[in-house]
Amino acid sequence: MANYDVIVIGGGPGGYVCAIRCAQLGLKTACVEGRETLGGTCLNIGCIPSKALLHASHMLHEAEHNFVKMGLKGKSPSVDWPQMQSYKDDVIGQNTGGIEFLFKKNKIDWLKGWGTIPAAGQVKVGDEIHEAKHIVVATGSEPSALPGVEVDEKIVVTSEGALSLAKTPKKMVVIGAGVIGLELGSVYARLGAEVTVVEYLDTITPGMDKDVAKTFQRILKKQGINFVMGAAVQNVETLKTKAKVNYKLRKDDSEHQIDADTVLVATGRKPYMDGLGLDALGVALTDRGQIQIDGHWATNVKGIYAIGDAVPGPMLAHKAEDEGMAVAEVLAGKHGHVNYDVIPGVIYTSPEVAAVGKTEDELKAEGRNYKVGKFSFMGNGRAKAVFQGEGFVKMIVDAETDRILGCHIIGPAAGDMIHEICVGMEFGASAQDIALTCHAHPTYSEAVREAALACGDGAIHA
Ligand code: NAI
Repeated sequence: MANYDVIVIGGGPGGYVCAIRCAQLGLKTACVEGRETLGGTCLNIGCIPSKALLHASHMLHEAEHNFVKMGLKGKSPSVDWPQMQSYKDDVIGQNTGGIEFLFKKNKIDWLKGWGTIPAAGQVKVGDEIHEAKHIVVATGSEPSALPGVEVDEKIVVTSEGALSLAKTPKKMVVIGAGVIGLELGSVYARLGAEVTVVEYLDTITPGMDKDVAKTFQRILKKQGINFVMGAAVQNVETLKTKAKVNYKLRKDDSEHQIDADTVLVATGRKPYMDGLGLDALGVALTDRGQIQIDGHWATNVKGIYAIGDAVPGPMLAHKAEDEGMAVAEVLAGKHGHVNYDVIPGVIYTSPEVAAVGKTEDELKAEGRNYKVGKFSFMGNGRAKAVFQGEGFVKMIVDAETDRILGCHIIGPAAGDMIHEICVGMEFGASAQDIALTCHAHPTYSEAVREAALACGDGAIHA
């Protein structure tokens, strides 16, 4: 007799959501987590704490730049870094505590410690071996190492150290103009640091729609962030309290150096599966080192499943959550499904950037016949009232059927607005379906409707 129907290894968004869904579907469930608190990277050292710092730094920016314009006079606030850190820690505590409560409510056993899988059907935590019919690996990811760069999480930091710096930096170099680099770089720029982003490619945020990437970089530059593009970081030298970042420009191989008191390494993440014992079990990996799975999240070893950052696909908390729910349905004998074509991506800067579906470049490469409808937030009354007129909504539709193929937004609350399009795409909506739907005035979402109108007879306020 197995102790459990399911043991989930990892208590991040993939793992804890999977455990809750398994329990809701009547399966006896445990979740193994070695951290002091549940929630994984996302809640402890990722999405949630970074949003607290983004919010606080955004408030400071508003006070410094926009209060006077609105007739709010007086001294701008100054940064009390220890208090900002404790606000961030409170936010983490509320969220991780919430997951612990949900585990109790759903009668999920939290097996505290780091799990290994000695054999299919068994999970060892500490000295104890627990048995389960099904094991779900949801162990997430960790920052990839960059050759020549040694991380000490004090001067040279990953996203984890960047959230808990001893003080706010004066000069910060960010290696990599991806999501992490730009989100955290913009936090410290708003808190007063001189931030320089060094990026290997010629455009920021690889994979993003080119129009959006161009506008995004222009806005970030205006906010004071410096960019060195087409530059490969060679190594970082650390002195007592400073670092020197050495890079080569790809166009002419010339060598350069920048000083910093903090260097953030944000050059990607890789699956984390240390100590699980997958090798010995013969669990197959892809050539990129991710756990190989079939359409039901099953590995090649019977009874072992895997989800989230440890398997192929975008490394996003919400993708992991969807997989967690879907694999729970499969284990309960139902039909779990994830539509990988409709997974939104959001960058939480100010303004936010959000996208779902295809980019123009992808459609061109596929030889598709498409139409674009674009609408600037300068034509949106609500955005202008709050100094957020920069940016646009770009909708891409099939030229013949008008069916939405993708949507790319840079502007206020883009990360929330994108879901109208996600729902639309799930239901096979056309731009006209969005255009004919009444949108409340005055809202940012009217810009989405205007972009849909621009796919047809034209936007009204353009
Ligand atoms: P990323 O893959 O988004 O960007 C890394 C950047 O570093 C690339 O632009 C790459 O060209 C550059 N790079 C690599 N080596 C370099 C070198 N030697 N010199 C200069 N530049 C170099 O990686 P990032 O930002 O670390 O994020 C990791 C993962 O976490 C991503 O999959 C991301 O989607 C996910 N994430 C998502 C968030 C969100 O959805 N808001 C927030 C944080 C992370």
